[in-house]
Amino acid sequence: MHILLTGAAGFIGSHVAERLLARGDQVLGLDSLNDYYDPALKRARLQRLQGQPGFRFVQCDLADRAGMADVFAGPRFDRVIHLAAQAGVRYSITHPHAYLDANLTGFGHILEGCRTQQVDHLVYASSSSVYGGNTKMPFAETDAVDHPVSLYAASKKANELMAHAYSHLYRFPTTGLRFFTVYGPWGRPDMAYHLFTRAILAGEPIAVFNHGDMQRDFTYIDDITEGVLRVLDKPAPLSSAGAAPYRVFNIGNSEPVQLLDFIACIERALGKTAIKQLLPMQAGDVPATYASTQALQDWVGFVPSTPLAQGIARFVHWYCGYYGV
Ligand SMILES: NC(=O)c1ccc[n+]([C@@H]2O[C@H](COP(=O)([O-])OP(=O)(O)OC[C@H]3O[C@@H](n4cnc5c(N)ncnc54)[C@H](O)[C@@H]3O)[C@@H](O)[C@H]2O)c1
Repeated sequence: MHILLTGAAGFIGSHVAERLLARGDQVLGLDSLNDYYDPALKRARLQRLQGQPGFRFVQCDLADRAGMADVFAGPRFDRVIHLAAQAGVRYSITHPHAYLDANLTGFGHILEGCRTQQVDHLVYASSSSVYGGNTKMPFAETDAVDHPVSLYAASKKANELMAHAYSHLYRFPTTGLRFFTVYGPWGRPDMAYHLFTRAILAGEPIAVFNHGDMQRDFTYIDDITEGVLRVLDKPAPLSSAGAAPYRVFNIGNSEPVQLLDFIACIERALGKTAIKQLLPMQAGDVPATYASTQALQDWVGFVPSTPLAQGIARFVHWYCGYYGV
């Protein structure tokens, strides 16, 4: 298949690209290579893809209307995997425009491109953050998600609404994936596990928000890529009854972990104790996430299951090799 993969130099995107190329798909990777975090890491991920048969790369900003129209003016994509976005909850408090440009305007350009090309399936990244401060656990796709607590979360929920409108109007299947805190090798330097690892190794204090009283459903990267590929291969059917070919699924480990237990897991993998600086809750954060994965299981017969200790050990192994520590 000929696939457009946005966010190809990103954490999840680069792993998805590896899997697509390994099974023989033709991939056009798109990324702006922006400096939200160290672009050298993005280039290093990209370097592993460039030179592999079937991979091409275009540097483009999602918000660049003419640039995105050019991308879709080329040969038709069978499917589009849209992972590029301005990620991060906390950054959305200080840099709202990055989210408006990439996640709203940019997503609109993706939908328009898919419409003009009538692609067979658009799979895009949503987020567990759409559940906001919901207290009913585990979070299920049928729960109301009308109370986001950050602009990031609101932009992801908006993407789901926009996708539904296009699926309904133009009859092309869209599937949104609500990722739950993804971690693993080549992971993002702005995320807690990466920040914790760096600080613990350097003997510096780590910031523990809400005094450690938080739970996250940490999901290993290989489980995410498996889920993305399985979902990609199973678009919603075009029903004659007129229902929009639209789906949304959680992809999470379905096993929430206390933040302090998570830190202890990293400490064990590093063989070093963290200096914890207990701080209040940060604006935009939610106290807990916990994915129901029943809908994903029913749809593609797969759910994430990598144990945290195993995933963290692989992350630490990569971290020490990549950063030479
Ligand atoms: N990692 C997680 O825990 C997690 C959780 C929930 C949702 N998500 C979502 O999954 C997707 C991938 O996340 P990730 O962790 O790989 O993040 P990432 O930041 O590593 O990857 C995103 C990529 O998109 C690119 N990008 C950002 N803005 C762009 C723009 N305007 N134009 C073109 N490219 C742009 C970045 O350069 C980056 O390489 C994102 O949509 C994110 O919101 C991630």
